[in-house]
Amino acid sequence: MSDATNGLQGLPDVHDLERLANEYFSALPASYTPGSTAKAENSYQDFSGHELIKSYSSGSSAHSLPFESERPFERELKNALEALSVTQPTSQLPLVHLAAANESFYYFSAGLQSIPDPLHPPFNVNLVRNDFPILSEQVNGKLLVWLDNAATTQKPRQVIERLSHFYKHENSNIHRAAHGLAARATDAYEEARQKVQHFIHARSPNEVVFVRGTTEAINLVANSWGEQYLQPGDEIVLTNLEHHANIVPWQLLAKKKGLVIKVAPVDDSGQILLDEYARLLNPRTKLVAFTLVSNALGTVTPAQQIVQLAHAAGAKVLADGAQSVSHIRTDVQKLDADWFVFSGHKIFGPTGIGVLYGKEDLLNSTQPYQGGGNMIQDVTFEHSEFHNTPSRFEAGTGNIADAVGLGAAIDYVQKLGIDHIYQYEHFLLQYATRKLEQIPGLRLIGTATEKTSVLSFVLEGFTTVQVGEALSKEGIAVRSGHHCAQPILRRFGVEATVRPSLAFYNTCAEIDLLVAVTSSLKR
Ligand code: ALA
Repeated sequence: MSDATNGLQGLPDVHDLERLANEYFSALPASYTPGSTAKAENSYQDFSGHELIKSYSSGSSAHSLPFESERPFERELKNALEALSVTQPTSQLPLVHLAAANESFYYFSAGLQSIPDPLHPPFNVNLVRNDFPILSEQVNGKLLVWLDNAATTQKPRQVIERLSHFYKHENSNIHRAAHGLAARATDAYEEARQKVQHFIHARSPNEVVFVRGTTEAINLVANSWGEQYLQPGDEIVLTNLEHHANIVPWQLLAKKKGLVIKVAPVDDSGQILLDEYARLLNPRTKLVAFTLVSNALGTVTPAQQIVQLAHAAGAKVLADGAQSVSHIRTDVQKLDADWFVFSGHKIFGPTGIGVLYGKEDLLNSTQPYQGGGNMIQDVTFEHSEFHNTPSRFEAGTGNIADAVGLGAAIDYVQKLGIDHIYQYEHFLLQYATRKLEQIPGLRLIGTATEKTSVLSFVLEGFTTVQVGEALSKEGIAVRSGHHCAQPILRRFGVEATVRPSLAFYNTCAEIDLLVAVTSSLKR
């Protein structure tokens, strides 16, 4: 296929690369599913953890890809990236320089030091896509291209089938009855909690509270811990990158209690200015609440530094992982934030379920903000005794089935390997960035060196809605608008952007289509 499809000259033809990949992987069993280790071992006899270590640690090239030393497909992709960069200045490229990543600074990059389990098969997008039924849907007569992953992710059949299995074979209320289905449902729910615990590396399942999503988790902290502990004049530090869900709950609380909100600024690339942030901290700072990845720009923030500085000032820290959790390894012990929050639907799980992680002692010393069944030890008309965490914060009948579905989603991600996902998405982001920035009149909003999976842009002469509609006609779904992050868009002088956002099931061919349709608007 010629590159005429995207209107760009002299660039390598990625369709040839995908053909190579298909040929390369054609030997794999058709029934391959992620994590099928027996098949993986048979299929990848030559796979060597030692080779991987070399491949990861020899990251002096900005284009290092996993397995490039042993996989022709990866070598070709690397060549494609290098050829692309010849035509482009690299100063503005949002690359994650693996070798240069400072572990204590960019906490997430540290995940790359942990080598993927050698029993995992190498990541293969062509096989993974088969697990997502919706990727075969037609929209406006065209095959769906789902590039709205920052808004919500699609679900693999493993999650869909797990939900169905729950309602067919396990459905019951939990923690309340002695019958068989109650035991099944309770076991499934508590197993899901343990899956989350291991995935985020919490010390105990008690540190994992199921909530409706990131928004509810932040509101829970504001209305329980914030209500209980914050006093008039206390200060909360946010960053300019925050989603409205990490601004509005604090504003509501600040108004009610006379608190002061301060905002850490960002530089022109969209990265937090750490010096400025540090200057905001003082003995009155009681809370720092910040995002690990900006939903509007894709900036990966220097989380470890933010947490350490906040703790040094005596403040508690809430880390918003909604946009990081599906892309980058989470280790709450290493991060050391006091709370970490995320939504299930952003990590290939169901909507309506999410997680509040909190340090166990902190959760147990916090008054619940919702009362009801399941969270009490004893009730009289005069007084109630509450359970410890997690029941303490799970009043009423929760979203049992979707918690179980989230467990299945985490299994899926774990079997693919979060480090494989990170590497593949990192490549896609570089590829998409280089192609998009060649479109005349297109301005990328958010060009931080540390970025993941989000490409926000505006196109001269077109509203973001016009671009979104043109893309939708070709089956491409992106978000157009303010992304519930108005302050950061205004920092860059815009009210809205077009925001393609990536997941591991996206391909270079999809990026090509995005670029082709966007370019064609200029003709
Ligand atoms: N927070 C989601 C987004 O960024 C909805 O689109």
